[in-house]
Amino acid sequence: MSNIFCSSIGKKLIMSLSGLFLVIFLLLHVSINVTALFSQNAYNAACRFMDTNILIQVMVPVLALGFAVHILFSLIITVKNQKARPVKYSVSSKTETSSWAAKNMFVIGVIVLCFLGLHLTHFWAKMQLQHFIGGHGEDNPYALVYTLFGEWYYCVLYVVWIAALYFHISHGFWSAFQTLGINNSKWIPRLQIIAKIYAILVALAFISIPLYFILGLGEPPK
Ligand code: HEM
Repeated sequence: MSNIFCSSIGKKLIMSLSGLFLVIFLLLHVSINVTALFSQNAYNAACRFMDTNILIQVMVPVLALGFAVHILFSLIITVKNQKARPVKYSVSSKTETSSWAAKNMFVIGVIVLCFLGLHLTHFWAKMQLQHFIGGHGEDNPYALVYTLFGEWYYCVLYVVWIAALYFHISHGFWSAFQTLGINNSKWIPRLQIIAKIYAILVALAFISIPLYFILGLGEPPK
């Protein structure tokens, strides 16, 4: 059993399963956050639920573990591939026909991760973390979103981040299924289309939030 996780395929299996878990998280996360486009009260109620519900609180360490495992194994696989590659200047062992995203998954992942660190300080550190450490969580999360996206440079930063995320998941999503053994000529093209649609929808939904606020469409916080 331990051997399977030491083998190349075992490590890729862990990457794909943790990646698909994060794909589900993103769908939930974006669904909750787009409520900010409709109502201040609905957004604050959704955030309050996420911060205080016991099931969600139990899921937070699981989510953190999902991220940690995904990042750790991406590092292990990348280092191993670099060592195994005789020609150091060759950018990737992937074929010429691989997409730009496929060839740059690690670098795009690092960009996504750096922005994620910053993102957590914008919201999570002022909200859910406060409930964990016995502090006082933000009473009006909508005000945090309203204030942050009132600054054009944060909007630009989030759009760049979400664009990187788009490339990462538009390849990672279908590639995960390929690792799980679905690699026939009928399903791969279908999964590639599903991945692209998923990535476009999630990216557009996320990007609509900073755009909505910078265009002055948000309600002033109560
Ligand atoms: C405009 C886009 C986004 C907004 C408005 C937003 C908003 C938020 C808010 C309000 C929280 C704190 C939730 C709480 O403490 O209850 C949060 C946490 C978090 N966000 Fe985002 N987010 C956005 C995009 C993203 C993206 C693209 C990712 C992933 C790459 C992401 C990953 C996370 C993670 C991992 C957490 C901590 C776990 C959690 O609280 O759910 N967010 N975000």
